[in-house]
Amino acid sequence: MVALTSAEQAMLQGDDGKAVQKAMELLVRYADALGAERFVETNNVAGVPGSSPPWVKDYYAADGGDYRAVFCRFDLDADEVFDVPRMNAFSCHLQGGMDPQLWREQGMDDAAHDNFVSDEGEVAGHGIQILKTCTPYLAGNVPVMGEHCAWMESSAVVFANSVIGARTNCEGRESTSAAMLAKRIPDWGFHRDEYRKGHHAVEVQVPVDSIYEWGMLGYYVGDAVEDTIPVITGEISDPSLIRHKHFGAAAASSGGVEMYHMVGITPEAPSVEAAFGGAPRGERFVYDQAARARIYETLNSVGSCEDVDYVMLGCPHYSIEQIAQAAAMIDGRKVHENSALWIFTSRAVKATADANGYTDILRKAGAMLMTDTCSAISQAIPKGTQVAALDSAKQVHYLPAMMGIEGWYGTTQECIDAACTGKWKGRLQ
Ligand code: F3S
Repeated sequence: MVALTSAEQAMLQGDDGKAVQKAMELLVRYADALGAERFVETNNVAGVPGSSPPWVKDYYAADGGDYRAVFCRFDLDADEVFDVPRMNAFSCHLQGGMDPQLWREQGMDDAAHDNFVSDEGEVAGHGIQILKTCTPYLAGNVPVMGEHCAWMESSAVVFANSVIGARTNCEGRESTSAAMLAKRIPDWGFHRDEYRKGHHAVEVQVPVDSIYEWGMLGYYVGDAVEDTIPVITGEISDPSLIRHKHFGAAAASSGGVEMYHMVGITPEAPSVEAAFGGAPRGERFVYDQAARARIYETLNSVGSCEDVDYVMLGCPHYSIEQIAQAAAMIDGRKVHENSALWIFTSRAVKATADANGYTDILRKAGAMLMTDTCSAISQAIPKGTQVAALDSAKQVHYLPAMMGIEGWYGTTQECIDAACTGKWKGRLQ
């Protein structure tokens, strides 16, 4: 049984109101299921509180069929419906289901958009920051090393744990919504030192020095170590935020990696010994030319037709640096009449892209810079798409399988060339 402080006991008794009481009830059930002995306090929560498509609201029609009903019955798993106050923890909303302006282009109808507007008003009204991105760390929510967070979204979780040294498990909608009210999350998993030690070694024997290479290595690592913590050494170089972003997203997709150590690069791995922290060492995996070629083949195994009708960039959501690069690559060119180019980012980053003229450059070329969502989350792709080209190992893992289309993986330049010619010419670089 999880031990409670007097403040937590008071929340559970209802001293802080019904919503906090129900949130604590859910968190106590969650902690007991995990075997956690206590809670940690958190003031950094990222989830999708109360947002739902209309059919979920319809399911709760007997309870009012509104945001309140969904939050109480679905998010908090409560047996009654009550008023939900403003959140107590600093809270943000992760990616959502449509672009606030380009939703028609994404194929959404008026009813879905009305529902989106209504939910967003509720989210803001409850004091939750509308970041609407899978990269909160690029949009105003950057935790610090050692900070206890409660985040959903696997690519954000692996970034927070590995690159920043913040502490979060890959939470769900229910636990994050409850944590927004109670400011607590079970002291379990990545919140604890003993869980952050490496399990398996990965030795990199080929140069890994670009986003494209970091993405392929991430996909290899996830496939090799599954949901454990890899300790990576060798020829991995030129670390940057966007390289880590693509590496972690790929590793979390092909496996379930929620934290990795790169020796001499990530903050909890100044040495191999520190990364393993005295824990027994598991297997040793080698990423060599043969492994790299195999991963490239795997990522491109769902591509056969070279006529590309859709190029999607921005998984995880593009940084301003990536948007600037894409704009420079397409400036003066045109998206081919048989193809489409959609690039996804957060609203915060798009505001900078607007100010810098990148959005205009992309628009003049026939591309669209979209926010809030992505094709995998919204299941929105241009009508008639049969073949997509992607510069993200994570997106090529999900999108073709979800939408029943073909997919190619390549560099950003190859993807933009495909958008402008309608043809895939990518090859293992
Ligand atoms: Fe983000 Fe969508 Fe990729 S939410 S991490 S762009 S699958």
